[in-house]
Amino acid sequence: MDISSVLQGGYQHSLSRSWQSRRALTKSMFMYPIFITDDPDASVPIPSLPGQRRWGVNKLKEFLGPLVEKGLESVILFGVPLNCVKDTRGTPADDTQGPVILAIKKLRELFPSLYIAADVCLCEYTDHGHCGLLHPDGTIDTAPSVERIAEVAVNYAKAGVHCVAPSDMMDGRIKAIKRGLIDAGFGNKVTLMSYSAKFASGLYGPFRDAAGSAPSFGDRKCYQLPPGAKGLARRAIQRDTTEGADIIMVKPALPYLDIISDAAQLAPDHPLACYQVSGEFAMIHAGAAAGVYNLRAMAFETVESMVRAGATLILSYFTPEFLEWL
Ligand code: PBG
Ligand code: ZN
Repeated sequence: MDISSVLQGGYQHSLSRSWQSRRALTKSMFMYPIFITDDPDASVPIPSLPGQRRWGVNKLKEFLGPLVEKGLESVILFGVPLNCVKDTRGTPADDTQGPVILAIKKLRELFPSLYIAADVCLCEYTDHGHCGLLHPDGTIDTAPSVERIAEVAVNYAKAGVHCVAPSDMMDGRIKAIKRGLIDAGFGNKVTLMSYSAKFASGLYGPFRDAAGSAPSFGDRKCYQLPPGAKGLARRAIQRDTTEGADIIMVKPALPYLDIISDAAQLAPDHPLACYQVSGEFAMIHAGAAAGVYNLRAMAFETVESMVRAGATLILSYFTPEFLEWL
């Protein structure tokens, strides 16, 4: 055999195999998405997301304490309001007695070392379930949407969050949030993580069940990106870097590895996040339950592909498992 044909000598041992990755997985790469509801004592399983629950603020210590002990370093909060009055502008999003603001304060107090991010969006809090404010004809009214989203982000900053993560996909919101944070004195205190390339995906179903955030009419195709839109994704990534994003995110992750790789090249000086979304998590569980593959092996293979594509940070419902596995 020719010398140039032989590669297997380079990965014959588990250690030499590990050297083949440019970067190794670490616990600190994982950010855990958690659902906080407005019943303070809630601990309610979410059927479509195996092992995940809606938590009340009074349960956060028992829920997260053991994970912090195992090395959990960051979480991202999603509010699940079940007992509030939703309206056209998503007023409950930044209610000072609402679940997200209460959880931010509680977590800062309980776990001083934990990095706390909050998703910023209106769909969980609007009566129509869309991510922004609407014109009478049901289309997005961009200017007041952006203003309201920036206001919510600043109010999460005031509550003590380390990172705000707008997932709404309204044009111009990164600039507005950054301006709002700077003007309120948080320019050097709060990270702005942009869901920059967020696609209109079929993989958000379990999340919308969990958060009660499905739109009451229509879909999100006029603000989330079309799945085939490589060019738009690249433009959105570049726009958000110029508008002041500190971290760029691609979402979902597995069907969009090429976009993660593009983002790594377009924004090489920014951390790059990807979101292994609810449907990806549910799909891996379902495949494992059907005997298609081993759960742990597939969880590793998927997140390794994301890191290989260029991600430096992964939002994943598998975070508790990885704290055990790594
Ligand atoms: C809300 C939001 C969604 C997700 C994160 N923030 C759902 C959506 O856009 O409909 C999805 C997360 C997941 O599926 O795990 N804008
Ligand atoms: Zn939304």
